[in-house]
Amino acid sequence: MINPLLTELAAYPFTRLEEERRRLLAAGIQVIDFGKGDPNEPTDPMIRNALVEALPERAPYPLAQGLPELRESAAGWIERRFGVSVDPETEIVPTYGSKEAIFSLAQVLETAGRAVAFGEPAYPVYERGALFAGARVQTLPLSRENGFLPDLSELDDDVALVWVNYPHNPTGAVAPREFYDELAEAAERHDFIVGSDEAYTELWFDEPPPSALQAVDRSRILVFQTLSKRSSMTGYRSGFVAGPPEIVAALKSYRPTVGTAPQEFVQRASVAAWNDERHVEETRARYRAKRDVMIPAIEGRGWEIVASDATMYLWSVGPDAAELLEQGIIVSPGEMFGPSGEGYVRFALVPTLEECERAAEILRKT
Ligand SMILES: Cc1ncc(COP(=O)(O)O)c(C=O)c1O
Repeated sequence: MINPLLTELAAYPFTRLEEERRRLLAAGIQVIDFGKGDPNEPTDPMIRNALVEALPERAPYPLAQGLPELRESAAGWIERRFGVSVDPETEIVPTYGSKEAIFSLAQVLETAGRAVAFGEPAYPVYERGALFAGARVQTLPLSRENGFLPDLSELDDDVALVWVNYPHNPTGAVAPREFYDELAEAAERHDFIVGSDEAYTELWFDEPPPSALQAVDRSRILVFQTLSKRSSMTGYRSGFVAGPPEIVAALKSYRPTVGTAPQEFVQRASVAAWNDERHVEETRARYRAKRDVMIPAIEGRGWEIVASDATMYLWSVGPDAAELLEQGIIVSPGEMFGPSGEGYVRFALVPTLEECERAAEILRKT
């Protein structure tokens, strides 16, 4: 009666962490939760006001192509941030956050019976989307030796879709700009589409990371952007896909069937968010302050921090997630993201600065 994939796939990993958190709270243990990557940062008042002002008396069904002003603000942001010009009319479609769009891409492309490839450790949705679309999964191990970049020569011949995600969850690794040209060339040679999940491009601390949109040939590249991390708007559900007109047109015809356009008042708040960089700089400063507290505390315990150049994550070799749990510190065990994550843990810097200071104190004392 029920799709066996739902029972075969283990519980969505973060559901398990949430259960763990509830267990500790019920036992009266104070927890500091570095598990799930849901920002605790406030959404900027300017964005919240834009939402309130846009709330209409009656909210009709939003259209899949989204409001023209949202597509224009996304295209304007791409131009300012990456120096690339995309047509808001034909190359952008708004999405309900980016997760649902990442999940369903394998259904929109011709992937059934072919391979969908991605590096692991990975965000779990590439795999789930591929399996529900009837595709086969090919995982490419990512390791510190290869800079957490996939070996493209390992791709199966029948690969239809390759996911990349830089800055990378969970390792925080950043891909160099040339990587996207290599990927675009491989896509042309082997006839596959690239899905570039760029949820974390704005959480950087040194150099702003590149986008796959900067590849010389972007005719096979689809970029998934979101306001969730950049603007701390996870609950608003707002992002966009930018890509070649024929695939964007396919998304515009697929998406009304599923009903996944963001509410228009959310779209108007999103226009305010894409048009502003001040709040993003403030967000980066808040994460930087947390890094300044947590990095010395983790390294002080003799645990190495690997990659972790961007994103809200610190990827560390050495800590034992179960041991930290007993001290009230929740982290994600690396193997939760795939076998190559074994031996690592991921700290998501989502607790407040005060909580990070408390966690650092605990780490120093033990
Ligand atoms: C790598 C990666 N991609 C995409 C997402 C999806 O975010 P959203 O659906 O909120 O845009 C997340 C969320 O944690 C993520 O870690």
